[in-house]
Amino acid sequence: MRQRKVFIKTFGCQMNEYDSERMLALVGEKYKPCETPEEADLILVNTCSVRAKAEAKVYSFVGRFKHLKKKKSDLVIGVTGCVAQQEGERIVKRLPHVDLVLGPQNIYRLPEALEKILQGQGPVVLTEMRKDFKPPLVLAGPDGSRPVKAQVTIMQGCDNFCSYCVVPYVRGREVSRPPEDILREIECLVSQGVREVTLLGQNVNSYGKKERGYPTFAELIRLIAEIPELWRIRFTTSHPKDLEEDLMRAFSEVEKLCEHLHLPVQSGSSRILKLMNRGYTREEYLEKVKKLREICPEIALTTDIIVGFPGETEEDFKATLSLLEEVRFDEIFSFKYSDRPYARAREFSDKVPEEVKAERLTRVHELQARITEEINRSYIGQKVEVLVEGPSETRPELFTGRTRSNHVVNFLAPEGLDLKGALVYVLIKDAGKHSLRGEYLDTIKGP
Ligand code: SAH
Ligand code: SF4
Ligand code: F3S
Repeated sequence: MRQRKVFIKTFGCQMNEYDSERMLALVGEKYKPCETPEEADLILVNTCSVRAKAEAKVYSFVGRFKHLKKKKSDLVIGVTGCVAQQEGERIVKRLPHVDLVLGPQNIYRLPEALEKILQGQGPVVLTEMRKDFKPPLVLAGPDGSRPVKAQVTIMQGCDNFCSYCVVPYVRGREVSRPPEDILREIECLVSQGVREVTLLGQNVNSYGKKERGYPTFAELIRLIAEIPELWRIRFTTSHPKDLEEDLMRAFSEVEKLCEHLHLPVQSGSSRILKLMNRGYTREEYLEKVKKLREICPEIALTTDIIVGFPGETEEDFKATLSLLEEVRFDEIFSFKYSDRPYARAREFSDKVPEEVKAERLTRVHELQARITEEINRSYIGQKVEVLVEGPSETRPELFTGRTRSNHVVNFLAPEGLDLKGALVYVLIKDAGKHSLRGEYLDTIKGP
């Protein structure tokens, strides 16, 4: 029989990337991944709903596959992830060439859904969500070319209900995966050559809190750190309101935990933070940053910012700029506020005009570009530890990897040295806006 092929396109956050990998593993025996939708027998579009016009983008993206179905009548087209959850049946009504709609909790039912569709019982729409949902353990087989770093979702969903955010509605209630599943999965990845793992969750600090007998997040990190041949641990995302001292201490005490924390602040104005339902004030956020830096002075911080939240005045916005000056994040991700389905803030009055949002976003970018460049330049002359991911995509004569602080480093190494997967020291010689450049010094471990 001809080898069947699957094409998958992933939008959104790292959790979606993780879910896409699980789906590929689930159908791996029957379908091999391919690079273009034209070759595929199964097309999966794993969608994100977090920002403006997400649904419109999905409809237009998936709409483009209609003609492929005319050529290949047994082609199966599926929409999965957060927009699938949000839109449900509407997707198959608007796009009759779609066979399959799976919300994030239902991606594990992909094989049985495919079976049904191939027997002519499609379309299949699975969007029910359960409070006690437990993601099953799906181990991906060795694929020979696994990158040196991998991501593992440790918890699903979110209970925080920030007033602007759709995630709690499309991902469901917060559930933590059993520690033994997480450990087995990481051990399996490490046996396939993975050396760095990023633990994923919308709010990793509350890992295990709803369950009996689970470790805390800080304890989980310590358990994971015991896996031999795992060199580095990272995690994302940490909610400022739940960041406690035990996790801060892990940064200085657990050797494998990299000194980088993504701590989304969203706004520098306590008034706006309250409207956002974030559960902390500007002062409390700054206090946590101060404490963290006392415990781990070399920690690199990154954050997310929303500009133009309903009611945000020029004064509120200036408070965000001054917070950026005060904290000096290594990098930020900034977004214009947009109304999202279900999210409470869509009902708020005093919406900020589009041009004001755009102008504020530019001001945030300009300020942060200066700070990031200053921080990057401070690396010049330093010897840093880099986990080598491989040759640089744009300049294949250079290797690329990241520092423990999560900065990208491109560096020159003596010819003939294959450093892919190795942990090395690099001397930083130059710094740009987005990356550092250096020269290879020494190999610490591996590949
Ligand atoms: N759980 C993570 C982030 C999830 S979404 C956390 O709590 O930080 C990623 C980022 O998208 C958010 O941090 C926020 O900055 C942005 N975002 C979410 N909803 C948004 C909206 N309606 N408009 C603009 N940005 C939004
Ligand atoms: Fe959204 Fe807030 Fe949950 Fe993050 S913590 S996913 S921003 S509701
Ligand atoms: Fe997007 Fe869903 Fe992630 S809405 S950001 S893909 S949780």
